Amino acid sequence: MDRLQTQTLRSLSERRGLFIGAAVNARALRDDAAYRETLAREYNMLTPENEMKFGTLVKEPNVYNFGPADEILAFARANDMSLRGHTLVWHNQNPKWLCPENFTRSQAIELLEKHIFTVVGHFHAKVYAWDVINEGLAEDGSLRDTFWMKTIGPEYFEYAFRFAREADKNPRLFYNEYAADGLSPKADGMYRLLKDLKEGGIPIDGVGLQMHFALYDNPNFAAPPSPEDLTANLNRLADLGLEIHITELDVQVQRQPGGREELLARQAQVYHDLLDTVLQNRRLKAVVTWGFTDRHSWIPGFTGQPDWPLPFDEFYQPKPAYHAIYQALEEE
Ligand code: XIL
Repeated sequence: MDRLQTQTLRSLSERRGLFIGAAVNARALRDDAAYRETLAREYNMLTPENEMKFGTLVKEPNVYNFGPADEILAFARANDMSLRGHTLVWHNQNPKWLCPENFTRSQAIELLEKHIFTVVGHFHAKVYAWDVINEGLAEDGSLRDTFWMKTIGPEYFEYAFRFAREADKNPRLFYNEYAADGLSPKADGMYRLLKDLKEGGIPIDGVGLQMHFALYDNPNFAAPPSPEDLTANLNRLADLGLEIHITELDVQVQRQPGGREELLARQAQVYHDLLDTVLQNRRLKAVVTWGFTDRHSWIPGFTGQPDWPLPFDEFYQPKPAYHAIYQALEEE
């Protein structure tokens, strides 16, 4: 890009009334000045990558450790950034003692209530949005068989959102999901679920679409859906009156032929086209990538392959993907 860059992702987003965010981890925030500086300059929203998850907060029953999450909160407040709370209810990263055999139905409801009141209460009026439930659906669009499904049944959705609202009326309450971005059985299942919740008067304000993508379909991740499918899905979710966040965007380049330069150019195109499509939706309020620098990404660990999925390289230099996002935000 030859043009002089006078804005940041943050200033361009603020001009559009948007949040632009990144998932962060407390250790890098503590240890690395370049990490902190880049974040404060380019972003106005943060999501703790692991620090607010059940298994991180509560290793032993009833013992809560809010230390690392509080560090992220303090950094966000010092830099005038908003926080996405992630996540109250999920099937992964739970403590070992959270197994169905240990709980009757009413004990599980009590635990859910206690957990949500403790966590949401701790961050009272300090987070913009909570992912109340994360990944509650199976690939065919049916409800996923989790600890909460097994012990409480489908009513756990209703309980979780009601408890969250009772604990703090300020934050927007979100349902967050992966691979439900375009049109698919899972996306259809999510649409039905959210419609039922809305029509049932359950306090839900928004939907988070994770958007972990790859250049081409690989064993674990898919390429983005077509712009038409994305638009259609976002439109029907918006028609439910939901706020829409892109919550965990990254674009893998692994297992593709071609040199780094070529791969990064193709990755940039994917970021650009994606942003271009989703920015057209009036209810889109936040775009959050899952990390921001290739120095810290969950993808190599999760997939077992080297990768560079994020907008900054490992030395905090903007990649073509950064300029692509910048350009999409700059366009009308
Ligand atoms: C990932 C974190 O990035 C990793 O550090 C951790 O080991 C596993 O979880 N969907 C989610 C996120 O909602 O919470 C996950 O985060 C990535 C997939």
